[in-house]
Amino acid sequence: MSVSTFLTPCGAVDYPTCWSAATVADPLDLRFPQVPKGWSPMPVLKFIKEKKEIEVPEGANLRKEAMKAGVNPHQGLNGFGASLNKVVNCHGLGQCGTCRVNIIKGMENASKMGILEKTRLTWPIPTPITPGGLDPIPAMAYLGHEETMRLSCQVTIQGDMEVETGPELDLFGENFFS
Ligand code: FES
Repeated sequence: MSVSTFLTPCGAVDYPTCWSAATVADPLDLRFPQVPKGWSPMPVLKFIKEKKEIEVPEGANLRKEAMKAGVNPHQGLNGFGASLNKVVNCHGLGQCGTCRVNIIKGMENASKMGILEKTRLTWPIPTPITPGGLDPIPAMAYLGHEETMRLSCQVTIQGDMEVETGPELDLFGENFFS
């Protein structure tokens, strides 16, 4: 068995773009490269509460993929009204704020937040489901979750993510009354 120097992947994260010189015992390794364990060509989406893990195409929409997998991203107010919000929502227009999720891991793999989403999460603006009235709930939920909260209908998936649907709103906590 001869020992030679070959190009091999640097690691699971950068595979297959990162290559470096390494010494391997068998030249056949080059013809049949080992795929690192757990590596997938498609982004993996994990729904923490639902204990569900799915593979999705890169560039897919988070809300649509959740619903395809049987996960309701419209969880209402701390779970209250989830079945109503499942039907009564803006269907992906970024207006109702009911599809908010926490991206626990992989925020770097989410598309950037646009002005529409930012506005919905920071201002209690009237929406199609609260015509003429203010709806402060999305903005209240956003407080304290500025780094992780997104509207799932506005997120394009560009890599692995772990997602919490229906993040709890701390109605009586320090965010509001301190
Ligand atoms: S579905 Fe209404 S904001 Fe996302």
